[in-house]
Amino acid sequence: MRQKIVAGNWKMNGSLVDNEALLKGVVDGTAGLKGVVCCSPYPYLFQMQKALSGTHVAWGAQNLSQYDKGAYTGEVSASMLNDFGCSYVIIGHSERRAIFGETSVMVAEKFKAAKDAGLIPILCLGETLAERESGATFAVVGEQLEAVTGFVGVEALEDAVLAYEPVWAIGTGRTATPEQAQEVHRHLRERIAHLSAEVAGHVRILYGGSVKASNAAELFAMPDIDGGLIGGASLISGDFCEICRAAA
Ligand code: 13P
Repeated sequence: MRQKIVAGNWKMNGSLVDNEALLKGVVDGTAGLKGVVCCSPYPYLFQMQKALSGTHVAWGAQNLSQYDKGAYTGEVSASMLNDFGCSYVIIGHSERRAIFGETSVMVAEKFKAAKDAGLIPILCLGETLAERESGATFAVVGEQLEAVTGFVGVEALEDAVLAYEPVWAIGTGRTATPEQAQEVHRHLRERIAHLSAEVAGHVRILYGGSVKASNAAELFAMPDIDGGLIGGASLISGDFCEICRAAA
């Protein structure tokens, strides 16, 4: 059995005051659960470390530099994330690919930087609406996946996490149906199985895109959906905790 994970991606939201209440709500409201993760903006990692150390809730960042250190103004390295106790880091979110020009090569390099530092990458994959409507979904997510496995080898996925996030479902309120999501999750697992059946059996594949307390349970009930990557609903502790309970 794969342990399900529910990870909150706060995106560029939060404040010291709001986060304090949110983190307390998540710790209290998910007591006894496993696989609960919160990913904050960089400036709040110290606050996460203080609030979550010694609790059952893990934390992480939403991006990292592919470089170790040096003259890279504005960037944050994997070892800095280690300093703040991060276990996880989101890699290749569609917002980073579309708005900040991250290429598949950069995503693969960032994935490697995370793994080399002992962080668990949450690698995001997903097609746009136009790609889905033209029947290119499997080709698009397959290329995104193979850009990484081609660079680091399939074994690097063994204890990594994938997140299938159809771009048309992110922040739109339009969730993929459990069947639509399952179809892509199964396809990803089959692609990985061609390289290593063992890795395919272990890798967690989360679904992301308008997951809410009201639709989480039916998504998480699908055989290849191992939890969720949650945007908007991760900012409301009651909603996020309910989604975490749906994965238990
Ligand atoms: P929403 O849950 O707000 O649709 O965001 C999903 C997402 O992008 C998580 O990374």
